[in-house]
Amino acid sequence: MTREEALRAIDANVKNQNLIKHMLATEAIMRALALKLNEDESVWGMAGLLHDIDVDICHDDMSCHSKIGADMVAKMGLSPEIVHAILAHNGAHGVPLESSLDKALYCADPLTGLITAGALVRPDKKLAGVEANSIRKRFKEKSFAAGANREQIASCSSLGLELEEFFALGLAAMQSVSRDLGL
Ligand SMILES: [Fe+2]
Repeated sequence: MTREEALRAIDANVKNQNLIKHMLATEAIMRALALKLNEDESVWGMAGLLHDIDVDICHDDMSCHSKIGADMVAKMGLSPEIVHAILAHNGAHGVPLESSLDKALYCADPLTGLITAGALVRPDKKLAGVEANSIRKRFKEKSFAAGANREQIASCSSLGLELEEFFALGLAAMQSVSRDLGL
């Protein structure tokens, strides 16, 4: 499946534009992680891009979310490693994180929310002026972007990444697609 085909599948299944932006942000971070860890950028990017394709369909029901999505991407012909990463990224199912791809998607997903919130509190609401150091400070403020699960973000350690490194990588990745994110 090409990226264009994946974007068309997202358009057909996801109405929430903020959710689409979140998927694009996750794609960017996943590509950057793959580059850093000498993994396949297009495979990791595709997992990030498609990981929440079922959220509208599941109406935010966490017992449904990611099971339907995994079935959908399997039917689209994507590789078993992508299917597993998408299934496992919702911790509610208790599917263990096995591969590096599983672990990367799990920690990248909530980082997008923390970084987006870091941009939205700025007067210009842009990512350009956000610094990794401010993300680090916001990470410690539990009430800031409370939905961005801190333990899940901190699980970047399972990939051998320090939090500071992960913030810098994630921020740069999202800044590189800031236009698509509207930030
Ligand atoms: Fe997500």
